Amino acid sequence: MNITISPSILGGSFANMQDTVKLIDQSKVEYIHFDVMDGDFVPNLTFGPQFISNVRQYSKKIFDVHLMINRVGKFLDDYVKAGSDIITFHLEIDENIKELISKIKTNNIKCGIAIKPATPWEDLKPYLNDIDQIIIMTVEPGFGGQKFMEDQLLKIEQLKNYISQNQLHVDLEVDGGINYEKGKKCVDAGANILVAGSFLFKQENLTQASNQLYDFFN
Ligand code: DX5
Ligand code: ZN
Repeated sequence: MNITISPSILGGSFANMQDTVKLIDQSKVEYIHFDVMDGDFVPNLTFGPQFISNVRQYSKKIFDVHLMINRVGKFLDDYVKAGSDIITFHLEIDENIKELISKIKTNNIKCGIAIKPATPWEDLKPYLNDIDQIIIMTVEPGFGGQKFMEDQLLKIEQLKNYISQNQLHVDLEVDGGINYEKGKKCVDAGANILVAGSFLFKQENLTQASNQLYDFFN
C-alpha cells in the first residue's frame, strides 16, 4: 500500500511561503497540508483562504486543507474557491456535520473529518460512508512541534479494523509529532497518510527531507 506524505507548511515562515511551497513542490510527496486556525476553535491564528489562493499557482500537488476553525459553513465557499482539493473540518464544531459534508462534496472536493485526541473514534461512525478521509490528531490541535501522543495508536488500530470490516473507502491521515519512528508506528496501526511539519522543517533541505520521508515509507 502506498503511504502518502503531506508536509505541513505550518513549520515554514509565512513571510516567504511561496518559496516553501515551491520547495515541497520539487519533492515527490503527493500532498501539501495547510493548517488553518481561527484563534477560536484553537488558541492560535494562522491564515485564511486568500493565503491558500496566493500559493495555489506554485504547485499542482493536492492541497490538503485542515480547518481548525468554527463557523466552517460560513467560510466554506472561500476555501473551495481558493483551490483546496481536500477540506477537512473538525467533528467537535457546533455545526450540522451532514450538511457540511454534502456542501463540500457538491463542489467535487474531497471531504475529511478530523478528531481531537480526546474524541472517541466511534463518534465518526455516522459519517464514515460519506467522507474520503479522517484526520486523527496525535497532538492537541493548535501548534506544530508538539510531542506525539502514543495513546492515539489504539484509536488508529480500532478505526482501521472498523473500516476494513465494513469495506469502507476512507483514508486514515495522522497529524502531529510525526517522524520516522512515530510514523512507522502509525502505518503499522493502519494509517496511510502522514502529516509532518517540524520534523521536515528542522532539517537542512526541505525538498530532500520530504523525499527521504517519502522513500522511507514507500
Ligand atoms: C497542529 C497541526 C499539525 C501540525 C503538524 O494543530 O494540525 O498539522 O502543524 O506539525 P508537527 O509535525 O510539527 O506536529
Ligand atoms: Zn494539520
